[in-house]
Amino acid sequence: MAASIGAAPCRTLFRRSCGKRLSAAWGLLGGARGLVAQGETHLGFQTVPEAEKEQRVYQVFESVAKKYDIMNDSMSFGIHRLWKDILLHQMNPYPGTQLLDVAGGTGDIAFRFINYVRSQREYRLRQKLKSHQNLSWQEISKSYQEEALKPLGGSQVVICDINKEMVKVGKQKAQLLGYTEGLSWVVGNAEELPFDDDKFDIYTIAFGIRNVTHIDQALQEAYRVLQPGGRFLCLEFSQVNNPLISRLYDLYSFQVIPVLGEIIAGDWKSYQYLVESIRQFPAQEEFKAMIEDAGFLKVEYRNLTAGIVAIHSGFKL
Ligand SMILES: C[S@@+](CC[C@H](N)C(=O)[O-])C[C@H]1O[C@@H](n2cnc3c(N)ncnc32)[C@H](O)[C@@H]1O
Repeated sequence: MAASIGAAPCRTLFRRSCGKRLSAAWGLLGGARGLVAQGETHLGFQTVPEAEKEQRVYQVFESVAKKYDIMNDSMSFGIHRLWKDILLHQMNPYPGTQLLDVAGGTGDIAFRFINYVRSQREYRLRQKLKSHQNLSWQEISKSYQEEALKPLGGSQVVICDINKEMVKVGKQKAQLLGYTEGLSWVVGNAEELPFDDDKFDIYTIAFGIRNVTHIDQALQEAYRVLQPGGRFLCLEFSQVNNPLISRLYDLYSFQVIPVLGEIIAGDWKSYQYLVESIRQFPAQEEFKAMIEDAGFLKVEYRNLTAGIVAIHSGFKL
């Protein structure tokens, strides 16, 4: 366990593993993402048979599930919260919106969605009451009671994730934080979504798509389940565009993150996979083209924090 690792053994472990891995990593970082033979794919910097990746990724998230949230905060100094807030502002859901959050993990996007829709409803109610100056207190009270009965105005979020452990942790968190209305959890694969065609207004996937074996298939599924006019939004690690920041970011990623993973979650390997998988994911323009290939229109992206992450958006029109 993490807590039982003393500082000295940890440093030795760090020098041994990280020294070797860093040099391997630098070699790969310089060039394009390596090509793989047919039937093979990347798992971080390793090449594995396609049939194996899903199971290996499953093991990663099964292993980190309990410490996933605390690791996110530690690794990103809490900035992942800001990135997720920005995603919600860009989505700007209205009461009644039907959201599918794929690879939803422990529910961060879903909980933000519920908060956002609730605050929109409250804001609209206040505006409505302000514009009707002569209402009696009974009428005002009735409006608030109606609001309390339908705080989300019919909005629903479905969280779909392939990993039972992540879903379990997410459900516990939802209960603890009091999210009971307007959300449901489904165990399912982004490449083969268990939903009908044209069902959702918005599809989100945050830090999930790089873990999927066939990204093109996941994008086609996103397109299928969105209704015409629906929006695809993806928050994912991307390519840093400033050389100095890029260098510092690589150093931090390869030297610090696996060590944090070992200390906090007792799991070096999973966090080594995390940083490697980020480097293997297509850069902004290439990913944009993949989204267009799936049929989406008006595809655009915005970089956050110098391109450490990007939000891609597209519409099914
Ligand atoms: C880094 S976590 C992101 C969780 C959450 N969206 C967030 O932003 O905190 C990646 C998630 O993707 C899920 N995942 C990986 N492959 C998947 C697949 N093929 N289909 C659905 N979910 C998948 C994992 O189980 C994990 O919960």
